[in-house]
Amino acid sequence: MGSSSGRHSCVVGLQWGDEGKGKVVDFLAAGADVVVRYQGGANAGHTVKVGAKEYVFHQIPSGILQEGKACVIGNGVVLSPRALIEELDQLVESGLDRERNVWISERAHVVLPYHQALDAARERTETGGKIGTTLRGIGPCYTDKSSRLGIRMVDFVDPDRFRRLLERNVAIKNRELELFYGAPGVDLEAVWSEYSAYADRLRPRVRDITEFLYDADDAGATILFEGAQGALLDLDLGTYPYVTSSNTSFLGIGAGTGFSPRRVGTVYGIIKAYATRVGEGPFPSELETAAGDRLREAGGEFGATTGRARRCGWLDIVALRHTIRDGDVDALVITKLDVLDSLESIQVAVAYRRGAEAVERFPTLLDDEYKPVLRAFPGWKASTSACRSFEELPAAAREYLQFIATATGRPIAMVSVGKERSQTIPLDPWLVPRAKSGE
Ligand code: IMP
Repeated sequence: MGSSSGRHSCVVGLQWGDEGKGKVVDFLAAGADVVVRYQGGANAGHTVKVGAKEYVFHQIPSGILQEGKACVIGNGVVLSPRALIEELDQLVESGLDRERNVWISERAHVVLPYHQALDAARERTETGGKIGTTLRGIGPCYTDKSSRLGIRMVDFVDPDRFRRLLERNVAIKNRELELFYGAPGVDLEAVWSEYSAYADRLRPRVRDITEFLYDADDAGATILFEGAQGALLDLDLGTYPYVTSSNTSFLGIGAGTGFSPRRVGTVYGIIKAYATRVGEGPFPSELETAAGDRLREAGGEFGATTGRARRCGWLDIVALRHTIRDGDVDALVITKLDVLDSLESIQVAVAYRRGAEAVERFPTLLDDEYKPVLRAFPGWKASTSACRSFEELPAAAREYLQFIATATGRPIAMVSVGKERSQTIPLDPWLVPRAKSGE
């Protein structure tokens, strides 16, 4: 193990995304030198609120708001140059010219208009197999990467190579769009002129990221890895096929950056105090009632990328035990605790039932037959948004947090009670699980 192992850390979502990772990364980035995204693409929407201003990042690491941090986009990301440039320009409009802090892996794959066209065509025509994607072309771009048709940043910034590969791919993809989906193809020359301008702008930002990270490590820098989406959307460990196309858990770091995960110290797993999901797929603790609507309203549960209403439900301990163990999580951060402030009673799925069978283990093939076994907790019916220490939280809220630590077997390192940077409660010492008999 490298001697640097205690220094670096990682933030990952443990549910279906939208856990509030952006805010946690912004907070932890204050103590880091380098912040790295290692998977996903413009499907993510990481929201950070600073004062009256709210920023939403899709591809730029959320550490960009902290001054002087190198923000790295790893090779595991599928990068939309168009969306990245929009984000960079929006930062400039907010008075933050941080383009020189951004570094992009020359091995990252490029999302092009035919990927988005294919994503939309598939979602439109698939009968019974709709995923409810963000329509950002993520799946088709990762498909090209795996089938070795992809265009990487190193190709993209070389005009001759880009032109040659683009001609080949547009010919293939337009046949697929037209013949298979009956959808219009993309216009080669329009894509070429738009995207070669993006390549000119991004060329100085492209480099060998693996080397950059190892050099930073050798120089004593602190690196923070930022996961996108959540572990239940992980291509391998999530609720397949209702997943995204990348490895969203901590285990994605190795393949997504080339930097050894053995050198990463603390893995923070981010959990919203309840659960949400966007798109299709099973969700055992979902509330398809007025109670779900109330959570959606109180939590502002509408997609940061697509504006879609998120499905809402109770915390699911069965799913969390799975994503915590399989993602090697060390400590938890509980977000949006304040959203539960007005509830009379809070429920948690502590097991599943399938017919008469009791299920404790998260099934590989989760389907709608799994129903939650719920345990109720008294609500605290008081505002937590001004609390700045664990002791200031209402007793019932402290009890709820203690239950989460004990049921998952992991300490809680931090609690968030609002969107503001200041509404973050670092727990010192961490809130540790209670001995079993106390559960
Ligand atoms: P894709 O990543 O656009 O292919 O979408 C696949 C699935 O992941 C869909 O259910 C999306 O709603 C979900 N998804 C992708 N990105 C996010 C995210 O950042 N938050 C929540 N859900 C996401």
